[in-house]
Amino acid sequence: MKKIAFYDAKPYDRESFDAVNDHYDIMYIESKLTSQTAVISKGCDAVCAFVNDDLDSEAIDIMYNNGVKVIAMRCAGYSNVDFKAAYKKINVVRVPAYSPHAVAEHAAALLTGLNRKIYKAYNRTRDFNFSINGLTGFDLYGKTAGIIGTGKIGQAFIEVCRGFGMKVLAYDPYPVKDADFEYTDLDTLFSQSDVISLHCPLTDENNRLIDKKAFSRMKKGVLLINTSRGALINSTDLLEALKDGTVGGAGLDVYEEEGDFFFKDCSDKIMQDDNLSLLLSKPNVLLTSHQAFLTEEALDGIARTTLSNLDAFFAGGDLPNEVCYQCETGKIEECRNNRKGRCF
Ligand code: NAI
Repeated sequence: MKKIAFYDAKPYDRESFDAVNDHYDIMYIESKLTSQTAVISKGCDAVCAFVNDDLDSEAIDIMYNNGVKVIAMRCAGYSNVDFKAAYKKINVVRVPAYSPHAVAEHAAALLTGLNRKIYKAYNRTRDFNFSINGLTGFDLYGKTAGIIGTGKIGQAFIEVCRGFGMKVLAYDPYPVKDADFEYTDLDTLFSQSDVISLHCPLTDENNRLIDKKAFSRMKKGVLLINTSRGALINSTDLLEALKDGTVGGAGLDVYEEEGDFFFKDCSDKIMQDDNLSLLLSKPNVLLTSHQAFLTEEALDGIARTTLSNLDAFFAGGDLPNEVCYQCETGKIEECRNNRKGRCF
């Protein structure tokens, strides 16, 4: 039986993987994968990792020397993997899509919750405070949603926005052919959108895409939603934009330095990240801890695809869900569509 070192394991992971696994010996490890914890993978054939594990070159070399042959990311994003270090040593597979609707619906929950201040109303009514002063939102109907990244999740979110009767403007360097929504350049999207939602992967090119310069082009009071990756936004600049009213509210499921805190209970510690503390102190910031994917359907899809990726690897067949450093260079679509077999 092949053995898998399963890092950053949570109770919901164990439940969803145990429900569908009957042929792997899974060692669930609570710690995150780092160069310090990579040693635990000794004797394992595969490693299963998640969004905030740190798969840097040191960790990859340790796993390689431990005999690990494949890294199965149980997520879509992979900005935490040093592919160059893994190339020709350990193959990397991922789950490109599980439930884009799970993430799009969470983005919608952040948008409506933020706009109609549901989090404030919840706290008030729990305290028998039935005042509605200060809870005014705006109609989404007729407003413009700017969608950055029109892949699976971006398109699902566009459908949601249309359901609200919103006009959609989209930006993507690789536009969908024959799209039935309008593409525009980033400047126009920034200046015309009442809501901006991020649905693109984090790459070297778009790191801190939403910064001071971008904020200076936006409509005053814009609502900013980020369910993609935290480092797409410069959080120091976001704090300024929230302070001066450029951004009317931010719904964030991700944060640029989330790796140290998200998925953990830090309530008994003094928060050491000042930007995170400041964001959480703002009345118009609604922050969740990278839970947009967290639905029963998505967890089931993640478990099934991760195990079938491993089956394909160990059977020696094609790896349609493999990623390598060439994908990382931004040519992922070309690479994936044209490639059969394996990267190496
Ligand atoms: P996808 O691969 O289907 O689509 C991504 C789209 O972004 C593609 O159309 C691509 O051309 C576009 N893109 C690439 N660079 C861009 C840029 N600089 N500006 C604008 N668009 C760009 O990916 P999918 O499944 O839609 O996921 C999107 C992102 O959502 C993932 O990369 C991941 O970071 C995030 N995600 C977050 C989850 C959560 O729980 N919060 C769960 C799953 C994904």
